[in-house]
Amino acid sequence: MAFPSTVRVVEVGPRDGLQNEKGEIATQTKVALIERLVEAGCRTIEAGSFVSPKWVPQMADSAAVLRLAPQVGGVVYPVLVPNMKGLEAAIGAGAREVAVFASASETFSQRNINCSIAESLERFGPVVAHAQGHGIKVRGYVSCVLGCPYEGAVSSDAVADVAARLAALGCYEISLGDTIGTGTPRAAAAMVERVTRGVPLEMLAVHFHDTYGQALANIFACLEFGVSVVDAAVGGLGGCPYAKGATGNVATEDLVYMLDGMGIETGIDRERIVEAALFIADALGKKPASHLAALPR
Ligand code: HMG
Ligand code: MG
Repeated sequence: MAFPSTVRVVEVGPRDGLQNEKGEIATQTKVALIERLVEAGCRTIEAGSFVSPKWVPQMADSAAVLRLAPQVGGVVYPVLVPNMKGLEAAIGAGAREVAVFASASETFSQRNINCSIAESLERFGPVVAHAQGHGIKVRGYVSCVLGCPYEGAVSSDAVADVAARLAALGCYEISLGDTIGTGTPRAAAAMVERVTRGVPLEMLAVHFHDTYGQALANIFACLEFGVSVVDAAVGGLGGCPYAKGATGNVATEDLVYMLDGMGIETGIDRERIVEAALFIADALGKKPASHLAALPR
């Protein structure tokens, strides 16, 4: 397989990044972050999630964030929806793209969305159909593709099965999530290869958390296999409240540095994405978890 010449980066910082922050973050701060991401050249920006505010209070203002996000041609703001209630709220807020999220691990599925994998897929069927009826594209996530915080090892057969079912429901893209960042490059590429036996490679995205510092190496291995869609979070923000110990996603600016160096286009400006990382780190009162943003300036 050859490396792709361009990579579509799915910026998940405003959702995956901010869903895990302890303190309250003003809606205006989220919108200001999104404005900076747009200026940096990000074109797909996951802006929030329409989940239960009891489960994830940090995302309770997602409707307001969507309404206030700058409307710029070519920029899309997907949001997470776990069920029909979430989808209807997302449609009401003007969402043009949503994502449903399943897991390859039974225990994580129960802890994260309070139902089994089979129940979640049954629930997503009508959600995807209803979204499509409104002209809304649906992305599908599979979590715990290289390990589960509760069950440990997860088989690639289980990952491939859930990915194929999401594709059969009508998801246009399947994002394979290493939720707790335990994956390593050969395992990551082998898992992707297994998934491609049921889902075309062109439909796959990868989503690596960087808990053990493996995210860029894993992404490199998946790019070498031909994957061309990569999720990342500005400033290395991220984590799932239901995956204890999981740290941030791969930092968008570090990913862009690697891809720039490899001659792979992303459309994202490195300086400006670092500025966005510094902005949100300052707003959160912490150091950015990325190499580029930590450089002396
Ligand atoms: P439940 O308690 O089983 O829901 O939670 P329910 O259907 O029994 O309803 C209970 C209450 O929640 C009701 O309200 C519903 O109206 C309300 P009450 O009558 O008690 O006042 N409710 C909702 N409210 C707002 N929006 C909704 C909604 N649905 C029900 N959509 C549920 C089930 C799925 C709702 C819950 O478990 C939940 O919200 N989970 C979300 C967890 C989450 O967001 N996790 C993080 C995202 S996943 C992730 O980070 C991984 C990823 O990054 C990839 C990777 O790294 O692997 C994507
Ligand atoms: Mg994640």
